[in-house]
Amino acid sequence: MRQTYEHHPGRQRDEAFRTATFAGATLMFAEQAFGLASCPTGGFDPDGVVREFALGPQEIPVMLLAVGHGAADNWPPKPRRPVTEVLDLA
Ligand SMILES: Cc1cc2nc3c(=O)[nH]c(=O)nc-3n(C[C@H](O)[C@H](O)[C@H](O)COP(=O)(O)O)c2cc1C
Repeated sequence: MRQTYEHHPGRQRDEAFRTATFAGATLMFAEQAFGLASCPTGGFDPDGVVREFALGPQEIPVMLLAVGHGAADNWPPKPRRPVTEVLDLA
């Protein structure tokens, strides 16, 4: 592991995003099981998050996850392309 990641900041960052994405998705499923709604966002000020949450040099803000109660009159999920159009299984 050390050989794979040490001195490879790009790989470290890729791995941080991969891992955080799994964590974020798991959190969203858990929230849904408790009747909550959530919304991931990647459009935020990472420097501001680092500053406000006093993150260390090895902590990378990957996404913000807003959590709350879905409003009754909220709009429905936007349409998704069929899985077969966006995923190839080899
Ligand atoms: C990884 C990720 C990052 C996102 N970042 C943003 C964002 O910065 N701003 C935004 O308005 N929506 C963002 N979205 C989209 C919303 O989270 C949400 O999925 C979108 O409003 C569609 O709603 P729906 O999933 O209920 O159809 C992001 C979605 C994902 C998966």
